[in-house]
Amino acid sequence: MTDSTERWGKPVCVPGDEDRDQERGSGGCLAGSMADVGIYMDNAASSFPKPEAVIEAMADFLRNVGGSSGRGAYRKALEADKIVFRARQAVARLLGVADVSRVVFTANATESLNLAIKGLLSPGDHVVTTSMEHNAVWRPLKAVERRRGVTISQASCAHDGTLDPADIEALLRPNTRLIVMTHASNVTGTLMPVAEAAAIARARGIPLLVDCAQTAGVHPIDIERLGLDLVAFTGHKGLMGPTGTGGLYVRGGLDLVPLKDGGTGGDSMLEHQPEWLPDRFEAGTLNVCGIAGLGAGVRFVLEEGVERIREKEAGLLRRLLDGLSEIPGLEVYGPRDPARQVAVVSLNVRGVPAEEVASRLDREYGIMVRAGLHCAPCAHRTIGTIQRGAVRISLGYFNTEGDVDRCVEALAGIARAAG
Ligand code: ALA
Repeated sequence: MTDSTERWGKPVCVPGDEDRDQERGSGGCLAGSMADVGIYMDNAASSFPKPEAVIEAMADFLRNVGGSSGRGAYRKALEADKIVFRARQAVARLLGVADVSRVVFTANATESLNLAIKGLLSPGDHVVTTSMEHNAVWRPLKAVERRRGVTISQASCAHDGTLDPADIEALLRPNTRLIVMTHASNVTGTLMPVAEAAAIARARGIPLLVDCAQTAGVHPIDIERLGLDLVAFTGHKGLMGPTGTGGLYVRGGLDLVPLKDGGTGGDSMLEHQPEWLPDRFEAGTLNVCGIAGLGAGVRFVLEEGVERIREKEAGLLRRLLDGLSEIPGLEVYGPRDPARQVAVVSLNVRGVPAEEVASRLDREYGIMVRAGLHCAPCAHRTIGTIQRGAVRISLGYFNTEGDVDRCVEALAGIARAAG
């Protein structure tokens, strides 16, 4: 076995890793220990590292199970069914859903949002959204505007990304068929008033679709208590799963036109998609390997507790914001308040392009962040950075206070050099 297979095939602790990983709150050496890779602060794009249990669940599926779910009665196929069911159950428990079948697996939050938006809106409909949305919301909306003549109204958020729910209400029309909004911005971390929007939507009988890409697993979400109608989530961020996993919660009584038609493993004589969930929206062989990892990730989150995860990330965020506030020449966007945002911060260093700051953080300090427009031009327009973009630091559960201090020192160095 080569060193690299030993490290990445079955992660081993190198001297010092145990202490750092202990500090990361993982209770032991994580898969893909951070010792070699530097300081990862791009968790809004994808969380890293992953809990060891996630890698083990995927490897176990590939080595020992291998069957396709819903498509056989032999023991391995039933084992695959069980993996998918347990993952669905874990997601339903985490997100506050009683009927497990209402959780539909997809490839990512983008697919979920496409399914909800394109499955619900018809010619002549009107939709209300916000000015902080990711392109995963905005582009499907523009697609139905162009192809179906759907009209869009966008509620303007404040400079820090915050939204007054009254602005949503003011835009509603008799033909408003959907309200769609993010739970937290992927650019500023700003938390949106989802509970208030849900009350407005309920009072008017309009479905509310919430994009939880940045909150599932790191902020409490209680779908049925809030009365949300449609909730899109991704598997590879706060839920700690692999890329290529995600899902959509669909409230009972709400029908969508499926995005895909095809085999569901049963009822093959039917010429159309079955009416029942989750089969209606899960045509084609499921990503059972990915779902095995997702299930393990969600069980990790359940065991740690979302409140504890949120508390740890809020503490790191407080430390980061305090450190950044001491650096002259920085512009920091968003609420700058851990109570009003998730652990995502965008900033610029005066006089230095965002891409250069990100590149220097990586090359000179081993700190990984994302620069640019973050697939969210609407949000950058709202915060005033559409021309130059921004540097985004997104913390995760496995970051440490030491990581945050290194990042603050690095930014102070870059800002000082810029004069
Ligand atoms: N939506 C992800 C991000 O913000 C990919 O980076």
